[in-house]
Amino acid sequence: MTCPSSRVLGFLFLAGFVLAGLWGCGDSGVVESPAPVRSAAAWRPVADAERSDDAVIAQRNRADEARGAMFASLLGELMAAIEAGGHAEAISVCADRAPAIAEEIAAEHGVRIGRTSFRLRNPRNTVPDWAAAAVERRTEQPAEFIDDTTSDFATLTPIRLAPPCLACHGPTESLADGVAEALAARYPADKATGFAEGDLRGWFWVEVPAGGVLPPPTS
Ligand code: HEC
Repeated sequence: MTCPSSRVLGFLFLAGFVLAGLWGCGDSGVVESPAPVRSAAAWRPVADAERSDDAVIAQRNRADEARGAMFASLLGELMAAIEAGGHAEAISVCADRAPAIAEEIAAEHGVRIGRTSFRLRNPRNTVPDWAAAAVERRTEQPAEFIDDTTSDFATLTPIRLAPPCLACHGPTESLADGVAEALAARYPADKATGFAEGDLRGWFWVEVPAGGVLPPPTS
């Protein structure tokens, strides 16, 4: 039998932790050893001379594999959802599945991965610190970064608007039936309509830790 009191204690510990986090501990006099804070300043663009380093090549390959897998999975599920129920219905499938797919791919490939934009639909698709400057200048070129303290590596890859995207990201007159309503219900602060074909829509980002190994192929 499990011991209920340890569960209660665990809950109280967690609750205290959360509350401390919400209110901050500034005046409590409690001294804790803080988790190491990763400074955004440690990230910098990869230098030309480093681009052919073996470690960088291996990390780039892992980033490319993860991004390819995420792209294929997102597109596959999006197309299936559109076919099954139309664009408006696919909005809610996409809303639930896009973040879940990112988590699945991250776990499978041992990376952190996501999409972001200067005009977000999902406010949780925030810009990683290391990508802030590149996003700010709306870079249209793929970019690579390295963290000098950890040798973690990261890529930022532009995503452009293709014709099938207009039904959910285009100007009002291009949106498919019911999409405007579905967006208003699900994403009241949506900033991701009004794009034209070929426009920069956002980026895939991938962070690859240093020294990790890829899981063996599944086939
Ligand atoms: C069926 C409607 C639909 C279609 C078609 C669609 N999207 Fe989206 N898009 C969404 C939804 C819903 C989200 C928010 C999902 C999430 O990431 O949580 C989203 C989010 C995104 C994001 C993440 C940034 C953000 O704003 O949150 C990018 C980038 C993006 N879409 C690009 C595209 C591109 C490129 C295409 C065409 C290949 C496309 N989308 C087609 C509905 C759609």
